[in-house]
Amino acid sequence: MNSPFFKTTAILFFLVFMVSPCAFSGEVEVLHWWTSGGEAKSVSVLKDLLEKEGHTWQDMAVAGGAGANAMTVLKSRAVSGNPPTAAQVKGPQIQQWGDEGVLTNLDDVAMAANWDKLLPSVVADVMKYKGHYVAVPVNVHKINWMWVNPEVFKKSGAKIPTTWAEFETAAKKIKAAGFIPVGWGGQNWQEATVWESIVLGVGGAAFYRKALIDADPDALGSATMVKCFDTLRMVLGYIDKDAPGRDWNLATSMVIQGKAGMQFMGDWAKGEFKAAGKNFGTDYIAMPVPETSSGYLFNVDSFIMFNVKDAGAKEAQKAMARLIMEPKFQEVFNVNKGSIPCRLGMSRNPFDFPAIYSFDTFEATAAAGTLLPSMAHEMAVYPAIRGAMFDVVTSFCNSSMSSQKAAKNLATEVKSAI
Ligand code: GAL
Repeated sequence: MNSPFFKTTAILFFLVFMVSPCAFSGEVEVLHWWTSGGEAKSVSVLKDLLEKEGHTWQDMAVAGGAGANAMTVLKSRAVSGNPPTAAQVKGPQIQQWGDEGVLTNLDDVAMAANWDKLLPSVVADVMKYKGHYVAVPVNVHKINWMWVNPEVFKKSGAKIPTTWAEFETAAKKIKAAGFIPVGWGGQNWQEATVWESIVLGVGGAAFYRKALIDADPDALGSATMVKCFDTLRMVLGYIDKDAPGRDWNLATSMVIQGKAGMQFMGDWAKGEFKAAGKNFGTDYIAMPVPETSSGYLFNVDSFIMFNVKDAGAKEAQKAMARLIMEPKFQEVFNVNKGSIPCRLGMSRNPFDFPAIYSFDTFEATAAAGTLLPSMAHEMAVYPAIRGAMFDVVTSFCNSSMSSQKAAKNLATEVKSAI
């Protein structure tokens, strides 16, 4: 046992298996759209963890909020037979990639860590294709948030609104005081993000379900939908003329810098406030979008992995999937990103108030039946239906179309997209 041969072999064994963190190191090329300050800071957590295990991260960031550009790049890469190793893909689109037969089965990683027990079923179900894990969830974002600059409200003598009527009163005062009431990003997905929150608030959870999840033409063309568009029209009266095309994080900056009073945006906006060194409670406040406090529009980010041949790349994919679900990543990433962990049983201690509120309301709304998938963020309907809804909402926002016409168009266009 003390022979020099044994010692050398033992040292080699130690070097190979203990010092190098994995048997095969590989490269993952990761396609994602997290390029804003808060987003980039968050995704770098995953890159660092993978690199610590000896893998290489090839960054394939495609700028453009909510991933519209990233999905176009992904499709063209896949069509040309050169998909990335991993890609940020969400909701029903996971099923569509599953249908293509190009996804890596992640069941072994999922079984080893017991993902079925660690994930709420509302999340786990979306990650599976025909009962097998093909995607790994990163977080839970809440959509129906209003981000407020309290100083702007104070200087304008305005009260932070909880109803749309209060919003109108506050917005008038903010405008009169020389500020822009709403920091608005005129891109179709941002317009749809605000619209879906209005649908939840004005129409209620059951109406949201019928219209934006079941895509029921009667609900889409109803008098309630007309009311929702009326509310959106009223809100549009309080944005600035430079809004068209503006990125969401620039709209958040308007609130951060005190140019605008508020922004309606999912809680990735919090990542921008944090990255700018702002403190919750003093520099900024978060409240539910008016009239939506009893509902929760959820949005889960996730990664799919494409079939690869290289053993190192396979190993790196599995490591990436495993690390995403581990507590360390779930904590640090979500603290930076503004979301909450999708992994159950995580300590709430490192999280601030908006996140704690999100934890609480996630549970409460799940029990009440008002936890609903976001249409704008690809959780609720297939892309063709979402595209039809986006088209109507964006034409409404960028013209003087009447609410009646918008509701009518919505019913017809969605019907033909189904
Ligand atoms: C959402 C995504 C978020 C955030 C946002 C803006 O769809 O789920 O993580 O990145 O787009 O880019």
